[in-house]
Amino acid sequence: MNNKELLISEINRLRKEKNAVIMAHYYQISDIQDIADFVGDSLALAQHALKVSADVIILAGVYFMAETAKIINPHKKVIIPDPFAGCSLADSCPADKFAEFRSKYPDAVVVSYVNTSAEIKALTDIVCTSSNAIDVINAIPRDRKIIFAPDRNLGNYLAAKTGRELIIWDGACHVHEDFSLERILELKTIHPDAKIIAHPECKKPILLVADHIGSTSSLLNFVTKDKSTKYIVATESGILHQMQLYCPEKLFIPAPPTDSTCGCNDCKFMKLITLEKIHRSLVTLTPEVIIDEKIRVKAEKSIKAMLELSEGKNVFQKV
Ligand code: 13P
Repeated sequence: MNNKELLISEINRLRKEKNAVIMAHYYQISDIQDIADFVGDSLALAQHALKVSADVIILAGVYFMAETAKIINPHKKVIIPDPFAGCSLADSCPADKFAEFRSKYPDAVVVSYVNTSAEIKALTDIVCTSSNAIDVINAIPRDRKIIFAPDRNLGNYLAAKTGRELIIWDGACHVHEDFSLERILELKTIHPDAKIIAHPECKKPILLVADHIGSTSSLLNFVTKDKSTKYIVATESGILHQMQLYCPEKLFIPAPPTDSTCGCNDCKFMKLITLEKIHRSLVTLTPEVIIDEKIRVKAEKSIKAMLELSEGKNVFQKV
């Protein structure tokens, strides 16, 4: 066995011994996606976290994903293998500034993207992910004002798709903000038969040239069903691993960022998680996600509102 195989066999032994599951986001490195018990987008990770019967959840993703799992599983140990795996988008919306912003629109329904801290979720009426954001906005009675935070690109996309006026927080994700339209169009001239597919956190000019726009799971679903054989993929490069696994015969080209020295756009926070750190987490059962109980209870309400709406319940009678 080589070093990597040894490490994986130790991870396998420890996850059994500690009754732990490893849940990974599509943006994780391929080695982690390959060993995970569950791989999914933000919505699927939240939905799956509720069903887990293990005592320990190792969340291979960024901090807000582990926090979300902990908020809805207060009695389980939730571990993030690197506590510095943050999120530029979540960081672009500090809770004190957001509370001030929200107080200017006391009658508005607050919709927050899952890429936020527990404190922001506690100030929110309903959470959404890119998989259900349109459904969440459409479910809000038309006479209600809506605050949307924190992603301005997703907010503008949702306003255009739903025809609703949104009061949008001015935040963005460093990965999706940085795709270069010019370099994408250059790639398109080299591969005229390639379809451009993009995450709705991308800027409007990228979305305008996209053949399909959707969450990571929607992009994955699209390439498995679509007849084309080439795609320029404008989201974090980790998703290419699943696309290639589902469609080995197709070509997936990562959309390039503005910095011309680099061919693809990696999330530096997602890539902080490694097999070695997962192994260490299983040995020590740290670093554990701990949330102030008052904040957790409020944040749980806004996440549960999203999960109930995803199951078809009319949650806006309560908001
Ligand atoms: P998805 O919900 O599409 O997986 O997106 C997660 C994310 O963090 C995008 O930046």
